[in-house]
Amino acid sequence: MVKSSVLFVCLGNICRSPTAEGIFRQLVDEAGLSGRIEIDSAGTAGWHTGKGPDPRSCAMAGKYGVDITGLRARQLHQNDFERFRFVIALDRDNLKDIRAVAPAGHSASIKLLLDFVPGMEGQPVPDPYYGEEADFEETYRLARLGCEALLDAVRAELSAVSA
Ligand code: 4NP
Repeated sequence: MVKSSVLFVCLGNICRSPTAEGIFRQLVDEAGLSGRIEIDSAGTAGWHTGKGPDPRSCAMAGKYGVDITGLRARQLHQNDFERFRFVIALDRDNLKDIRAVAPAGHSASIKLLLDFVPGMEGQPVPDPYYGEEADFEETYRLARLGCEALLDAVRAELSAVSA
């Protein structure tokens, strides 16, 4: 069976990318595709390695029925570019840092999450870490928009390859 894989990458892997991972896991589950799409998240920085997501992100995701409390932070690694078909940056700094780590000749598709949303190409999911509740709300909203559009793109590629 043809499979795909998605890695979400932000700076710390405790706010934005675990939020996106949790939302995307739920969407993929609901679509009955959890056996076909591998999903993970990572940070370009390793400061929070081994820690769970920020309590403010856990609370915001929980409010919308997405449980991210079991996720654990890790740092982006060179071999992620072999493991994952899509390496998805949350903002433009992440995108630059991801490209700096990517080994020559890799075949992963490296994109911003909101590139998948028509009319929002090039837009970041801003870092909420030093922000307020409204910033975490906005992270959740943008992550959901991006994940819904990303799932459409991943499904389209899966059906094109298996056709
Ligand atoms: P994230 O947010 O990249 O969305 O996980 C941040 C988390 C931690 C820090 C910065 C951003 N920090 O400076 O520790």
